[in-house]
Amino acid sequence: MHLLKTSLAALALSATGLAFAAPAFADGEVNIYSYRQPDLIKPLLDEFTKETGITTNVLFLDKGLVERIQAEGANSPADVILTVDISRLTEAKDGGITQPVASDVINKDIPTQYRDPDGNWFGLTTRSRVVYASKDRVAQNEITYEELADPKWKGKICTRDGQHSYNIGLIASMIAHHGEAEAEKWLAGLKNNLARKPDGGDRDQAKAILAGECDLALGNSYYVGLMMTNEKEPEQKEWAAAIKVLFPNANDRGSHVNVSGMAMAKNAPNKDNALKLMEFLSAGTAQQIYAQQVYEYPVLPGAEPSDVVKSFGTLKADTLPLVDIAANRKKASELVDKVGYNDGPSQ
Ligand SMILES: [Fe+2]
Repeated sequence: MHLLKTSLAALALSATGLAFAAPAFADGEVNIYSYRQPDLIKPLLDEFTKETGITTNVLFLDKGLVERIQAEGANSPADVILTVDISRLTEAKDGGITQPVASDVINKDIPTQYRDPDGNWFGLTTRSRVVYASKDRVAQNEITYEELADPKWKGKICTRDGQHSYNIGLIASMIAHHGEAEAEKWLAGLKNNLARKPDGGDRDQAKAILAGECDLALGNSYYVGLMMTNEKEPEQKEWAAAIKVLFPNANDRGSHVNVSGMAMAKNAPNKDNALKLMEFLSAGTAQQIYAQQVYEYPVLPGAEPSDVVKSFGTLKADTLPLVDIAANRKKASELVDKVGYNDGPSQ
């Protein structure tokens, strides 16, 4: 895997992206524009190169990927886009920077609800929006999203910003399941149960549970694995140790999931290699490596999550198609404003 981060400055100066037309980009290569951290995808790409002989070049971006590829236009060197969240996958398709891929291999590996019907994006891993519950203060081991609006939890719940895409995805799923009016009542109830104004990232909510600020929080499943194994910031292990993972709605429709995913760039110069990479990423070996690396769930049916992830319990994923979640994102965002979610609990 070659990291293209050093080319970033050059590219920023040349909006045409011509800096990419260097000799390094010959046949036998594939260019990846990624929102996913380079070290997360490196083991995968190394294995791909080992199997195929195709070299991978990665440009890591933390924002502006769509605008970047739009600006590069027909000369864009981007072949494959790697990103997280249905919001970003939809944004890529709507921004006109993807092209449809029809591959029997990919379509066999990736279940229908995790891919665009037109083949403009595909989920690679799922992550569930679970409830982090205080081990000390919450006796129950089951919960539903609906129950988070029950007044019995008044002053007990912490979450991050309501407008964050992770929460928007969940709220959009509530709209899809219950309709807008019910979802609004639910969100207003959840807001009234907040312990404080929404703040921080998902991991900060676990930290707040350890500190006794709240008993329940919403968080993505993989952060629990990242906290449990965090050698760089070992105090995160204590945050993780303070909580148990509850998979909401395990006894009915299942827990809300979102995806990390991939798309083929509209003007992919190395289209054949891009397809090879995408087929590789959806198949068994890569699914296993990826899931181990990121503490997420493989989309490939039958592929196992890591032991750390298995230790949380069993995920039963809501089968609602991601396109239905994407379709309700705008309404979800409006509801967040309408109920004043980010103002925190009413007095
Ligand atoms: Fe995240």
